[in-house]
Formats: sequence, C-alpha cells, structure tokens
Amino acid sequence: MCGIIGYVGYRDAQPILIEGLKRMEYRGYDSAGIALMQNGSTQICKTPGRISALENKLDWNGQPSHIGIAHTRWATHGAPNEINAHPHADSTGRISLVHNGIIENHDTLRTFLERKEIHCISETDTEVLAQLIAYFYKGDLEKAVRAALNDVQGTYGIAVMCTDEPGVLVAARMGSPLILGVGKNENLIASDAAALLAHTSQVIYLSDGEIARVTPEEFRTTTLDAIPVTKDVEEIEWTLEEIELGGYEHFMAKEIFEQPEALRNCLRGRLDEQHGAITLGGITKYTRELVRARRFILTACGTAYHAGLLGEYFFEDVARVPCETEYASEFRYRNPIIDDGTVVIAISQSGETIDTLAALREAKMKGALALGIVNVVGSTISRETDAGIYLHVGPEIGVASTKAFIGQFAILTLVGIFLGRRHHLSQPAAHELLKALARIPDQMSEVLAMSDQVRLVAERYQHANNWLYLGRGYNYPVAIEGALKIKEISYVHAEGMPAAEMKHGPIALITEGMPVVFIATHGNQYEKILGNINEVRARGGHIIAVATAGDRKVADLADQVFYVPDCPEPLQPLLTIIPLQLLAYHMAVLRGCNVDKPRNLAKSVTVE
Ligand code: G6P
Repeated sequence: MCGIIGYVGYRDAQPILIEGLKRMEYRGYDSAGIALMQNGSTQICKTPGRISALENKLDWNGQPSHIGIAHTRWATHGAPNEINAHPHADSTGRISLVHNGIIENHDTLRTFLERKEIHCISETDTEVLAQLIAYFYKGDLEKAVRAALNDVQGTYGIAVMCTDEPGVLVAARMGSPLILGVGKNENLIASDAAALLAHTSQVIYLSDGEIARVTPEEFRTTTLDAIPVTKDVEEIEWTLEEIELGGYEHFMAKEIFEQPEALRNCLRGRLDEQHGAITLGGITKYTRELVRARRFILTACGTAYHAGLLGEYFFEDVARVPCETEYASEFRYRNPIIDDGTVVIAISQSGETIDTLAALREAKMKGALALGIVNVVGSTISRETDAGIYLHVGPEIGVASTKAFIGQFAILTLVGIFLGRRHHLSQPAAHELLKALARIPDQMSEVLAMSDQVRLVAERYQHANNWLYLGRGYNYPVAIEGALKIKEISYVHAEGMPAAEMKHGPIALITEGMPVVFIATHGNQYEKILGNINEVRARGGHIIAVATAGDRKVADLADQVFYVPDCPEPLQPLLTIIPLQLLAYHMAVLRGCNVDKPRNLAKSVTVE
C-alpha cells in the first residue's frame, strides 16, 4: 500500500526522499511523487509508474531543499495517473500533503469546500484534506491540521508542510502506520521503518489519534485534542543489510533460501530440545488463561491465514484444544460470538493489515484475551494485543510471503506443544516433537538444494495456465498456500483445495496434460491421497507430487516428484511448502513476471 516519507534537517532532502521511496517500493504502488520546499515555495513532481520514472522526470535547479515529503501511491480513489498521485496541494500551493489511508467522508467535505468556493482538481480524497487544512490555516500548521482532522472520518497517516513555516513538518496518524525517525539536527517521518534505516535506528511509533510537530532539532507529540503525549524513543532491530538483496536476484529468492536461518532465529531461546522445554516469554504471564481457554480463534489474511489454518490442525491434533481459523475480514464484520474462555490470536507478518487489526479490536472489545503472532516489531497489531510472540525471521520484502509463513507456523507449533503439555500431551511425545522441530532447519536446506530440479519442472509447465493443488490433513493448507504463491507471482490460475473435494466439481476441469500438484507425504491419509492421484491420472492430468524421501509408490504414479525428508506429520508443512515456493518463484521468473512486486498486489494491505 501507500508509502510516505518526510524529511526536515540540514541535508539535501531530495536524495533522502527518493532513496526512502525505493526502500518502500516493495509495499506495492502504482504512482509516486515528491514535494520539495525552497525559498518559501513548494515544487511538486509526480508521475504514474516506478520511482525511476519519477527520478527521470525530476528537473531540479540544483539547489538543495532542506524539507520535503514524498509518496508511493496504491490507488483507492481515482485512477493511478499524475493528477491523482501525491503529494497534493491546496489551491494556493501553500499546503502540501502526502496521505496513506482513506478519508471516508471526503464527499461531504468536498461539498463543504465547494460552498466556500474551494475546488479540488483531482478525484482523490487526499486533496480534500489538503484543501481543508489550508482552509483552517491561520499561521499555525499544527493547529490547522488538528482542526481539519477533527472533521475527518476515516484512516490516515499524513505528512504535511506549509510554505509559511519552512522548517516544520506535521504528521498525524489514525489507522495507518507512521514512524518518526529521530536524527541529529534532522528528523524523518515514514510509514515504514525500512525507509528510515539508512539514517537512524532511533524511532518513535505514533499511535492512533496523535499528531507530531517536527523540526530539525525537536519534535512534539500531542493528541487530536492538543493534550501533550510523551513518547519513548525505541531502537529498530533490523539492519540495512537485512533489507538488501545480498547477491540474490530477487527478495523472494533470498527469503526462500534464508528460511533455515530464519527458522533457527525464530526458535532460538524458545525451544530447548535437550530438556524438551519451551519458553514463550511474551505470553507466559497469561499461562493460566491459556490453559483454561475453552476455544482458540486464529484470525489473519492471505498467507498468514494459511499458517493459521495449519495452526488449527495442530492445536486440535497435538494440543487437543478446540480451535478455528477465520479470515479477519469476515470475523470483523459478522458479529462473532466470543464467550468466556475464548482466546483470539491475530497472525500478521506486517502487523499492519487493516482487517486483521480490526478483527483484533473486535475480539478485545468483546472481552477476549487477544494475542498476536507478528513479525514487524512495534507494528500496530503488536502494540494493540494483550501479549504476543514475534516471529524474529527478519524483514520480509518480497510481496509473496515465504519465510514469514514458516515463522508463523513454527510459532503456532510451539504454542500448540506448550498447550498440549498442559492438557494431554506426554512429556516424551512433546520432547520427540521438539527434537524433530530442531532438526527442521537442516532438513529445509536439503529441500532447498533441489531448486534446480524444481526449475526444470517449471520450465516444462511454464505455459500451463490452469493448475490444481491438492492435499489432505496438514497438506491441505499447504496446497492452498502453494496455489496462492503461484497465482500471485506467476499470474497463473491455480486452485488449492482438500483432495477429496476435487470430486465435487473441480475434477470436471481436468484435461490431458493439466498440471495437478499433490502433497502426498506419509501420514494418516496417505492411502487416500494415492487414490486421488489415481483419479487424476485416469483423466490425463499430469501429477507433480511432493512426497516423503524414498517413496516409490508416489514416484510410480507421478510425472514429477519432489522428495522431502521424513519428519513427524504435524511438522511436515515446514518442509513441503518449500518446493511449492520454489515452483512459483521459477515459474514467475520464466514467465517474465515482476517477482517481488507483482501487479496489483501490495505487501501491506492497510485498506479494507
Ligand atoms: C498481503 C500480502 C500477503 C500477506 C497478506 C497478509 O496480501 O501480499 O503476502 O499474506 O497481505 O499480510 P500480513 O502482513 O497481515 O501477514
């Protein structure tokens, strides 16, 4: 979704802002723009397309500007063209603004402004806000922003500047992330920590309903009602190297290949395989509530939802606690029943997905203990949960989630074993699972070593436009995650489903040569899946199977086999997903798709 950056300080703002935009490119966008102030006037340059197009278009006079704002846009109101791109200015050009979010009452505000003879030139909700701030401006930008925001309904992360106050940036937040980067004689504002890291690791996370007035030397934070708020300066843990490519061609490849290390980091300090113990610092103070919980609801979107679905299988199978997983977008609006003893766990890589955040708030409002499994430290979801567990898998930049999925499920297995021990799981059984979990990173490396083999298969099927992904039990969520991967980055139509469901309709799609991916590892439904493979074969489908190392039966039935090392069935998804990630990756590369920034998609979905 949209990315925002603002700079005020002693250096030239332009390269800092452009570099910051590039760091946020991965979030997904369709147009970009920059506003720089010099000698009391603001110049705005914007364009549809990439940041490089904006750079080419920038025709600057060579004079440095010490204050500016910039934006990458993911269109919500109005087409992704130049006029709708941000920054937006008021009719006099005095106020300029970048915005992430949606002003829901923009029509009402537009009518109000029109009655005052103030006319907008773009279709955006954002320009309305710029005009409204200018309308309220009487010599104090912070006051004008506050007055305007008090009339606004919706979500926003904004950065605003005014030619009458050339050393001041004003930022405000409601529902869209905004971080203040604290430097020496310079300060920054951004919607994403990645845009700040090159300059500072000292940050302040603004909360909803807060406004910051930022100058090169200081910042002041207040509420929408002008009550001062004291904020802690926190340290970002991620390094610049971690958010760079490190020799890989794409972030997705880097993130797939660093999964063994990511999993080790995720498990470090939490899993003691020698003694069979688990330490989950973030949630231990709620152990009593967790043990007494009567029901768990896991809620998330996209890939995180698939990890949640695996968590549901694991919680019920291993921990023997009732659990259901629900799309956050459904949960938030369907007035769910949350009785006493319900624990809701929100799962999110970014910690900013608006539907997941809203689901969490709904759960809290109804009295549930609300926990989070989140990757981005300090993100909104992580701050709004009662307690939680960070993934510690490092920054994920590729839009298609890979290592975060591994981390999310790994954390769920730890929570599941932790709960299981307090219910029916014996110490030896828990110990066996933990020992197996500790072996997974090495086994992952074995699976990754077959990347070239997977590429050959991708080459063979690169022109196929319809795929089915089928699995049973734990392999079913893996199937739908595999299908999602190939859809989102290769633009191939793929459907994932429980293998048995195929017979209730999708089998009609199977024609000679259609690729059908089966996740067919050893487990309690192994014989059943062999039956399903035969059904597809009988109709001419081509079988691409993920199977347990050495399995001859599957090899005899399949056209292609990817072997994964043996491990306990509940942990297999940590291995079986890898060939499917690789398949999607190689397909996308072969089909010439933009792997890290697939069309129409965004890394962090901050609108409904
Ligand atoms: C977007 C991303 C997906 C991700 C989903 C949920 O759709 O493209 O990769 O799984 O959002 O994101 P979250 O940050 O909440 O895990």
